[in-house]
Amino acid sequence: MNTYLNYWEDYYKNNQDPGEESPFARFVLPFLKKNETLYELGCGNGRDSIFFEKFGVNIVAFDQCKNEVEYLNKHYKTENLSFEEADFTNLGERQLVAHIYSRFTLHSVNLEQEIRTLKWAYRALKERGLFYIEIRSVHDELFGQGEALTDNSFVTDHYRRFVEFDSFISRLETAGFKILYKIQSKGLAVYKSEDPIVIRVIVQK
Ligand SMILES: C[S@@+](CC[C@H](N)C(=O)[O-])C[C@H]1O[C@@H](n2cnc3c(N)ncnc32)[C@H](O)[C@@H]1O
Repeated sequence: MNTYLNYWEDYYKNNQDPGEESPFARFVLPFLKKNETLYELGCGNGRDSIFFEKFGVNIVAFDQCKNEVEYLNKHYKTENLSFEEADFTNLGERQLVAHIYSRFTLHSVNLEQEIRTLKWAYRALKERGLFYIEIRSVHDELFGQGEALTDNSFVTDHYRRFVEFDSFISRLETAGFKILYKIQSKGLAVYKSEDPIVIRVIVQK
């Protein structure tokens, strides 16, 4: 646990309420069906889970930020949507689901934690279940900023581990997944003046 927790607790103290959903959530929405269940890994202020829930998807959204999770459960919990304080790299046995979603969270954890999460996701999905990931690439302009650690990771005010496209795809395959869609590009995660090169994948159990 404790992946630069203080940074994220502070960040969400100032950004408690969900803003607009991410472009990645809009991209994923057509793959989701009413009444199916999705786990979100690292939901932040819940913006993408709250968006999916409006379309009748059942959601359990995990994040390590206790205060934010409490706030989201108080204000946004519904019959189909709940938030849970948890380390997504250590979720243990869970009910199998059709969908797992991770946006900008797998680069918040180290390589060992990523590999553990990929293996866990494979086990936690139903047969043919889908895992949707958006993650920072080594071609990101932020690469190299801050204090360098191992595995292409750097610490500025928080930790980021930049991912090499082909290696990441290999790790997904090693975890057992079939690659349905993969792209590394600009134009996918535009935010204000930022337009980083990111990796998106959809993989299937
Ligand atoms: C860049 S934010 C992304 C939030 C959200 N997915 C979005 O796109 O708006 C990363 C989030 O991952 C969470 N996180 C990082 N490591 C975590 C871990 N090991 N377990 C649970 N949450 C974690 C952070 O608390 C933070 O909310």
